[in-house]
Amino acid sequence: MYFGEKVCLRALEMSDLNKILEHWNTFAMRRFLGTALPCSENAERVWLEKATQYDPWKDGQIVLAVEDKNSKKFLGTVSLFGISKAFQRAELGIAIHNEEHMGKGYGTDAVKVMLWIGFHVLGLNSIYLYHAEFNDRGKRAYEKAGFKSIGAFRQAVYMQGAFHDLLAMDILKSEFLEEYPPGSFVGEASKT
Ligand SMILES: CC(C)(COP(=O)(O)OP(=O)(O)OC[C@H]1O[C@@H](n2cnc3c(N)ncnc32)[C@H](O)[C@@H]1OP(=O)(O)O)[C@@H](O)C(=O)NCCC(=O)NCCS
Repeated sequence: MYFGEKVCLRALEMSDLNKILEHWNTFAMRRFLGTALPCSENAERVWLEKATQYDPWKDGQIVLAVEDKNSKKFLGTVSLFGISKAFQRAELGIAIHNEEHMGKGYGTDAVKVMLWIGFHVLGLNSIYLYHAEFNDRGKRAYEKAGFKSIGAFRQAVYMQGAFHDLLAMDILKSEFLEEYPPGSFVGEASKT
């Protein structure tokens, strides 16, 4: 369990299945995640069975639950995947599931804590991500967490009847360490 200002990142559990299913099939959220096809309970359970057991070095990925550090409410998931031992880099993915919980600082905080894990626990050197050009909220959250825009794949996303650019961002360990040097934390455990 690693803490930010507002969130705690903890292991994903099979008991999170119903919490995930509550908002996963919501177009307002899924349209930002590439294909937004309906996902069955069975498919989600099969995914969760694997995701709860990922080993970052063996499987090249890790998925953690994001929860409000005070209320313990489940907010979504954040992941590192495509973890490369050779190049010490990985891709970041995140989804805050309920629209009502978006725009409240949870995403930025969860990204910062996952960067902290990537750089201070896994020893990565760079972390990158992609976001659709219409995801202004995501772009702003990533910038606040320290990511920089580095380019675009043109017309790489098809959503709502049109092609959109897919924008790339990244952050280097040296840049993250300017704000969070060894020995620092993003946040502290909740006192409640
Ligand atoms: C993207 C996501 C992780 C961001 O997390 P979040 O908790 O909603 O974002 P935060 O509150 O930390 O920060 C959002 C910032 O964008 C701003 N913002 C919100 N809506 C916006 C919009 N429509 N356009 C531009 N900026 C917007 C907020 O004001 C805030 O910036 P500020 O602090 O300078 O005011 C979250 O919204 C989410 O999971 N969305 C759905 C799935 C998704 O997009 N996943 C990422 C795919 S790349």
